[in-house]
Parts: sequence; C-alpha cells; structure tokens
Amino acid sequence: MRRITAIAIILTGLLATTLSSPVANAQLTKETREQKLERMKWWTDARFGMFIHWGLYSMPARHEWVKNYERLTNEDYQKYFDHFDPDLFNPREWAKMAKEAGMKYVVLTSKHHEGFCMWDSKFTDYKCTNTPAGRDLLREFVDAFRAEGIRIGFYYSLLDWHHPDYTIDRCHPQRIDNGTKKDYDALNKGRNMDVYRKYMKDQVTELLTNYGKIDIIWFDFSFPGENGKGRDDWDSVGLLKLARSLQPGIIVDDRLDLKDVWGGWDIFTPEQRKVSECPTWNGEKVTWETCQTFSGSWGYYRDETTWKSIPQLLELLIESVSKEGNLLLNVGPTSRGEFDYRAQDRLAGIGKWMRSNSRSIYGCTAAPAEFEAPERTMLTYNPATNRLYIHLIDYPLSRLAISFADKIEYAQFLHDGSEISFDKEFIYTPVVKPESEVPVIEVFLK
Ligand code: GLC
Repeated sequence: MRRITAIAIILTGLLATTLSSPVANAQLTKETREQKLERMKWWTDARFGMFIHWGLYSMPARHEWVKNYERLTNEDYQKYFDHFDPDLFNPREWAKMAKEAGMKYVVLTSKHHEGFCMWDSKFTDYKCTNTPAGRDLLREFVDAFRAEGIRIGFYYSLLDWHHPDYTIDRCHPQRIDNGTKKDYDALNKGRNMDVYRKYMKDQVTELLTNYGKIDIIWFDFSFPGENGKGRDDWDSVGLLKLARSLQPGIIVDDRLDLKDVWGGWDIFTPEQRKVSECPTWNGEKVTWETCQTFSGSWGYYRDETTWKSIPQLLELLIESVSKEGNLLLNVGPTSRGEFDYRAQDRLAGIGKWMRSNSRSIYGCTAAPAEFEAPERTMLTYNPATNRLYIHLIDYPLSRLAISFADKIEYAQFLHDGSEISFDKEFIYTPVVKPESEVPVIEVFLK
C-alpha cells in the first residue's frame, strides 16, 4: 500500500513538472462564441492566406532550424548576418503573386527562433537595418501587401536562440543531451528570463503600434515540461492582453500554451497535417487553419525536393474549406529576396484555378449534413447564396450518383458557367474532363 502511495506521489510530481500552472479565472475574455465568430468573420470568409518564412536562415538554405539542428553558436551564425543582402527584394511582386493566387491575408516572420529581427527594433542590434540590407524590410512588406488589399499578420517567435537572457532549454542549439534540470540551471547562470520577457513585450508593442492595423499575430511556440517553456515562462497572459489592447480585434493563434483557457486563442493551427474533421473544443467546433509548406521546410531549403503538386495543393485548400477551416500556405523566399521558381509555379497554378473557381472557397464552409458528398468529390457550401459546390477531385466520366437531386434548382460548371443536367439519381458530366485542375459543379439549391 505504501508503495502504491509512493508511486502516486512520484507520478503526481512528474505531472506537476510537465503541466503549466492554472490561469486564474480560466477565462481571459467576456466575449461569447457568437461575438468571437463575428469578430473573425473576415478571416473565415477569406479561407486562404500566405505564410512567409524569411530570415537569415534563407542563406544556409537548409531549414530554418539549422542553428538548432547543427548546434551552431552565435559566432558560427554571424556570417549570415554579415552577408544578408536581399538586393532583389520587391515586396510588391510578392503581394501581386499572393493576390493572384487568391490569398486574402499574409503572415510574415517578424522574428523566427534564430532571434533575427526583420524590422528596425529599438530593443536590439540584431536586426536587418544593421546588415547589408540596411532597411526596414517589414515596413516595405506591410506597405506593399496593404496596397493590394491583403490583410497583415505578424509571426513572432517566443523562442530566441540569440538573446543573451533567453535561458537555454531542450529546444536550444546549445542544449545538453539528456540534461537534468540541475545541468540546465548551471548552464543558465547569469541569464534572466525577466529581461527576455520584457524584451518580448517591448517588441510586440513596437510591432503592434508602428505598422498600422495588424490583423493577426502568430506567437510560436510553447513546449512546456522538463527543460521546456510554457505560459509562465513567456507570461503568455500578459502578451495576449498586450496584443489585444494594442490591436482590438486582432486574431491570435493557439501556441501560447493557453489552449485550456477561453479567450486564450482564436484559432487552432494544425501544422503540416490534414484534419479528419472540424476540430472541437469543449464539444463545440472551432475556427481553425492548417499551415502547410510547399516542400519540407518553412525557410528556403535549396536542396529539398519534396514539392507538392498544384492538384495536391488545391485539394488541401478545398478539403480545409469542406471541413470549415482555412489554409495558410507557406513560401520561403531566397536570401536575395525572391520567391523560388517552384513556389512561383505553384502560386500561378493555384491562381489560375482560383480565378474561375474562388466562388467555391470564399465565404464557404462545410455543406449541411443532409448533403452527402458523391463518390470521390468534396463539397463546400455558401450559406449566404445557398449554393453547393461539388469538387470533382477524380473526374467521374459521364455521370455522378447523387442523393439530393430533389434539392437542386439549377446546376452548372463553375469555371465556364455551362449548364449541367441532372435527374433524380445522377448529375451528367461531359466525358472529356474540362481544362481545369479540379472542375467544380455549382449547384443552386431550392
Ligand atoms: C514550427 C516550427 C517553425 C515554423 C512553424 C510554422 O513551430 O518551429 O519553424 O515556423 O512551426 O507553423
């Protein structure tokens, strides 16, 4: 019996060291679910955004975690700072490509884990203005995207592998293999997270004060537990309140380690994976967005070749909308400031499809439960227009069995507005697949 109690105590102790402390009130906002959905309506209507991971890591060009993976020191990494010169950076070109692809919002890494700042921050010298780039890249970026009518988001890394007061943890380049807490405490003598926490608040204040209206902030990321960091280390509640006070209405991701708190996040952010159905929280569906790369890394990775095809990317987008979610698709620009040719190719391909099919994406969501998706199709639905969209993922030859014929008033191909006939059991499609990566049938419902 005593042994069992001892085990229980050890287990409880272990749990306590791996969980973050509870947040007082367990509620950070008085906003109701309806009010939240209303605040986020522009975002759920938009459905499609561009992520951009750009920083010094575009120079080694072998993953944005290169400093960690190769355990590089600040000195090792310095050569990238000294040579960072994006002479071909023209954010107006980026913004045009994003717009033509049909993206309605953008999220740029203002600072990634490496700690390098893409704006002229007063609180550090480790910033683009002190490199050969010599200018505030974030400012130019914001101006260019805003001019195209694209909403602006900033990614801000909670991790910082350069700041002298950021304590070394298990995700740090200078981590200790199998290090105990004692080992880390010894290593971190002289580092003071209070200073770093203040630094983050100062920087977030700059970002959310000096660049006009900011629609989204993406804090990344938490890894609570042994030799990790969570909400107490970041002062997540403080950061979140600060962000909301400076930019009322701003949309915040879910990586502050406040997932259990109402008001601690706005969107779920499943990374690099499809969800089987719309995720839920406390039994209710949530607003969510999957972030995805074109190939296996977020930052520019010269020799990585697992690029997704245009049809795969379209399927990602359509599938997300069919499950009530958004897609945030990432580009990792080169160190000279251009989008890789493969990214340009994919964006153009998506744009070609969006030009004639975006009606099945914007303002759309899952189809009401009574509409069962015909074989090898995906459905989306626009509640405002009461139209159903059948995406022909695998082209069906001449007909498609349907179970909802009695609800159809009229049907047409979306890309060219040509009539599609139907009867009680089938929708009839031409044998030859139209010139569209994923043909869509637009159904006007009764
Ligand atoms: C991860 C990675 C990071 C990337 C991010 C995007 O958290 O640390 O490199 O920025 O996901 O979602």
